[in-house]
Amino acid sequence: MLTTNEIRTAFLEYFASNGHQIVPSSSLVPRNDPTLLFTNAGMVQFKNVFTGQETRPYSRATTAQKVVRAGGKHNDLDNVGYTARHHTFFEMMGNFSFGDYFKAEAIEFAWKLVTQNFGLPPEKLLVTVFADDEEAAGLWRSIAGLDDSRIIRIATSDNFWRMGDTGPCGPCSEIFYDHGPDVPGGPPGSPDEDGDRFVEIWNLVFMQYFEDPPGVRSPLPRPSIDTGMGLERFAAIMQGKRDNYDTDTFVALTQASADVTHQAVDGPFKASHRVVADHLRSSAFLIADGVLPAKDGRGYVLRRIMRRAMRHLHMMGTKEPVFYRLLPSLVQQMGGAYPELVHGEALIRETMRGEEERFKAMLERGLHLLDEEKTRLVPGAALPGEVAFRLYDTFGFPLDLTQDALRGSGHEVDVQGFEDAMAVQRQRARAAWAGSGDAAVETVWFEARDKFGASEFLGYSTEQADGEVLAVIAGNAFLPEAPVGSQVAVLLNQTPFYGESGGQAGDTGFLTAPGLKMAVTDTQKKAGDLIVHIGTVVEGTLRPGVAVTATIDHDRRAAIRAHHSATHLLHEALRRRLGQHVAQKGSLNTPDRLRFDVSQPRPIDAAELADIEAEVNHRIRENAQVSTRSMTPEEAVAEGATALFGEKYGDEVRVVAMGPGDDTRSAWSMELCGGTHVGRTGDIGQFRIVSESGVSAGVRRIEAVAGKAAEALTAANEQRLAQMAAMMKVGLAEAPERLASLLDERRAMERQIANLQRQLATGTVAAAGVEQIGAIRLATRNVGETPPRELKGLAETILKQGNADVVVLISTAEGKGSVVAAVAPAFADKADAVALVRAASVAMGGKGGGGRRDMAQAGGPDGQAADAAFAAVRETLKELA
Ligand code: ALA
Repeated sequence: MLTTNEIRTAFLEYFASNGHQIVPSSSLVPRNDPTLLFTNAGMVQFKNVFTGQETRPYSRATTAQKVVRAGGKHNDLDNVGYTARHHTFFEMMGNFSFGDYFKAEAIEFAWKLVTQNFGLPPEKLLVTVFADDEEAAGLWRSIAGLDDSRIIRIATSDNFWRMGDTGPCGPCSEIFYDHGPDVPGGPPGSPDEDGDRFVEIWNLVFMQYFEDPPGVRSPLPRPSIDTGMGLERFAAIMQGKRDNYDTDTFVALTQASADVTHQAVDGPFKASHRVVADHLRSSAFLIADGVLPAKDGRGYVLRRIMRRAMRHLHMMGTKEPVFYRLLPSLVQQMGGAYPELVHGEALIRETMRGEEERFKAMLERGLHLLDEEKTRLVPGAALPGEVAFRLYDTFGFPLDLTQDALRGSGHEVDVQGFEDAMAVQRQRARAAWAGSGDAAVETVWFEARDKFGASEFLGYSTEQADGEVLAVIAGNAFLPEAPVGSQVAVLLNQTPFYGESGGQAGDTGFLTAPGLKMAVTDTQKKAGDLIVHIGTVVEGTLRPGVAVTATIDHDRRAAIRAHHSATHLLHEALRRRLGQHVAQKGSLNTPDRLRFDVSQPRPIDAAELADIEAEVNHRIRENAQVSTRSMTPEEAVAEGATALFGEKYGDEVRVVAMGPGDDTRSAWSMELCGGTHVGRTGDIGQFRIVSESGVSAGVRRIEAVAGKAAEALTAANEQRLAQMAAMMKVGLAEAPERLASLLDERRAMERQIANLQRQLATGTVAAAGVEQIGAIRLATRNVGETPPRELKGLAETILKQGNADVVVLISTAEGKGSVVAAVAPAFADKADAVALVRAASVAMGGKGGGGRRDMAQAGGPDGQAADAAFAAVRETLKELA
């Protein structure tokens, strides 16, 4: 007997040996189609290949695709657990031809695989074709040898496959397996076709058209093939089972559910085990693809699925959270084929545990309330909408959970009443916004938030995604359209653009569609969780409703990532080097630099900065994994994550951890953070601190660069050094020594110049002779740039030469006047040096000076008045003499 895993492999290998490329499953969150909630078929990732918009290096492909059908157009959630073949998550195996082969080969491939490789008896098979598809009917006759009684023509949309309201589509042909007459049910197209006897195993779609807008079809460039075989139901047939839940994978999962709940697999809780097994798969795969429980959008569908499973686990009597404990058996079953389960195991586990802990706290009380309300209902009456709403609003019961809880009781929910109650609450919330000061200025964002819900951010895992334009906004108003040149703000339902927050700059890039282009120059967050693209329409006219491809500037984002991750390492390095008092006070991460403010009472000195820089670079070289988990803020803090005190966090937070070790718990740095980060610390490249400064009392600021910007800084510095070395005409290594000797030389030369000036001054005075004022021989000299501090020594020297009785020197260094007067002892009773310098000082705009009668010094701001100063000296001397 083949296991499910073996069947998957056999399918893929069969098509590979027939020239098909094995392509990995794409994410459950469609990156290339904004109209889809979740990937709902194998062809979704190839949508643009069918239309010719995208080309791939192969024209035949085969996949095993993860599919979720819950919420949105294909929604199987309500039936899961109670039927043999409904799932919220399943695998669709398929083969694809992009304008390569068409109907004949598709039918032949399918028939051979099923009857020869998998060995199903041809007489147990029958097929359907679209009513007027004679060609397909003929091919089934000739290739498979089926007679007309086993080729059923179906005129309804059952045999015309479409992905959604728009997109590639075409007639299809389905292969059915007949479980035999002892199982109730009729062949396809008959009134009792819904029975379990005839099971559809494979749908071959002859892709021929493209539909858009709804109802308008045009032919695809080349006819193509898209097929889908549900692995679970095919495995059931191959394993001789009538029920998907009896196959190996599900037996393992329901058994795990039985083990943790201590309730028999086939006992009274049979359906519950099945709900749990199915929901375990969809929850785990959705979380692995980046969806986290949330209040709306994809996250809300996930929350509904998880809470539905958790209610069933609760019903089976579990006291503690147990959903996450089933994860290892899923990883064991499917981790080989889907490594994302293994990589994401920690994130999935913590998300499940957190959700169940929070929900469990309300579940009991909510169910109690529901029981009470039920006793008040007359048989067959509907549960009032307000009660369902109260369960939703107060106890976190999604509507379908309440419906599921009422299953079998004979009561339904008054859905209209529920929706009315919801609308009333929205109205109230809107009124509250309108009344809240600031918010009133930009009411349009709150209106948009109310109308469209939160924007979905896909940018943790992708840099390009298709999104639907929900609104085009300018000047606090919704615009019907925005022509070329308009500056607008655009809201998409999903986007890889990061809206500026947490100090991380918003992304830039382009929104494009055929004939349409908007340059996004900034991305902001509004009304809490709306991501708003701001920029200019540069081609075409932008309108709400169109699908655009949103592409961020890759290099810029990569640079921002490097800076943001470097900030986490810096933060931790600061704490470890300076102490736990270091807390973030502000942060900025742009493509070119980072700025990080921390509480720190004194400046961080050069040695500390060097240590911190070295530590960060050490962590970069370690190249540890950067991992992300989701949990409550309380849990995160309890585990040691760095959180900002006083900051508001949602009920679910991301924790970003940087290793060593794969487990966030053992990580070196751990912070609550919604930003985008590198995959491994090595991706940061290098880290350089640029400056350290004070911002305000007790807050220091570090500016630094990472990655390319750090490289650029290093390169610029290198260049400056090289330039200096070249100017000194030495190699870089000899430069410091050369510079030191140049400085020494300079000091020696300065000394020499001073000496020369002294000699020059004394020499000139001697040569110039002296003037006779009464009985006194006066020598005067303007010594120019000679430093004032040398004047006294100079005057003494001249005096000693014995040619003069009074010496007066003025220096005009730096434009100011400094004067010194020296009087020979023999004349000290006649001439007063203090009086002389005072007179000179006043002439130069000063206020006099001081000293002794034989030696005094003074100054004035105006060195140019030196001659007037000398004249004043002469006058004074005349009076004294
Ligand atoms: N896309 C087709 C389906 O989902 C094969 O059934």
